[in-house]
Amino acid sequence: MKDQLEALRGAALEEIAQTADLRVLEDARVKYLGRKGRVTEILRGLAQVPAEERPAIGQIANAVKEAIGTAIDARKAGLEAEAEAHRASSEAVDLSLPGRHPRRGHMHVINQVTDEILDIFFELGFQVAAGPDVETEYYNFDSLNIRPDHPARDSHDTFFVKPGVVLRTHTSPVQMRVMERTQPPVAVVVPGRVYRVDYDASHSPMFNQIEGLLVDEGITFADLKGTLLMFIHRFFGKDTKMRLRPSFFPFTEPSAEVDISCTVCKGQGCRVCKNSGWLEILGCGMVNPEVFKYAKYDYGKYTGYAFGLGVDRIAMLRHAITSISHLYENDLRFLEQF
Ligand code: PHE
Repeated sequence: MKDQLEALRGAALEEIAQTADLRVLEDARVKYLGRKGRVTEILRGLAQVPAEERPAIGQIANAVKEAIGTAIDARKAGLEAEAEAHRASSEAVDLSLPGRHPRRGHMHVINQVTDEILDIFFELGFQVAAGPDVETEYYNFDSLNIRPDHPARDSHDTFFVKPGVVLRTHTSPVQMRVMERTQPPVAVVVPGRVYRVDYDASHSPMFNQIEGLLVDEGITFADLKGTLLMFIHRFFGKDTKMRLRPSFFPFTEPSAEVDISCTVCKGQGCRVCKNSGWLEILGCGMVNPEVFKYAKYDYGKYTGYAFGLGVDRIAMLRHAITSISHLYENDLRFLEQF
């Protein structure tokens, strides 16, 4: 029995030394020292040992128990220290690591340019107005003196939602919506999305316009020209030239298209201006008396001008963007440049 106990001590100490975590160590304690453990198991044979040898065996058994207990305690302390050291090193904050930069969003280039244009007109006393993208044919066409047989009303050019309802093809219908609810003086600018059946490098089926409308007593074409020239100088720079070409819109009379000297070649002729030295940026004119009839404005008393400019085209000119589709593909590598 003495040999059995000694052998048990050797096996136990070796096993304890090899335990790698606290749970396994606890299992070992139960296995050797527990109430049904190995030491107890051996001592069950004590009855067969001659009485005079029993005290000596008892002493050895106690010594073995104590040795195993001490080994377990020591191992336990070691494992706990290891665990603590591991925790401390894995949870440590490394203050020398570079910080993580959260990605910041910013305004889309179209909205930046829109705001910049609007700000110039706000300074002149214009107010902002808005209307729906899904518009009736009445506001988009009829009330603007665009007759039922006008080619722009064809489904090849206009997106029809249902009979009588279209995606607005320009921001001009908001002119009528504003005039219906306000008496002159009226001075509004209207940013908005517009839609046309058109798709190539310079046309997108959805694009952006800013409409302008000014109605008051004694407004003349000179007011229109002066306002646009001021806008062009503010936005494109004082050395930019402006040119008006006669044009036609059913809702203005007379009408004009406005060109600016090419911002790329300064008028010398280049690819962007197709060698003409000029770039078209807007359409405008004096509000047609027919339109005032729909608005129930007194034409003898009031006159006014209107203009509509293409925001996409202006943004493209400002930033030398070669295809309008870049503006709507939402490629962050492109958008983050602005
Ligand atoms: N609505 C016209 C267009 O989209 C532009 C315009 C607006 C012309 C106002 C004259 C007056 O082409």
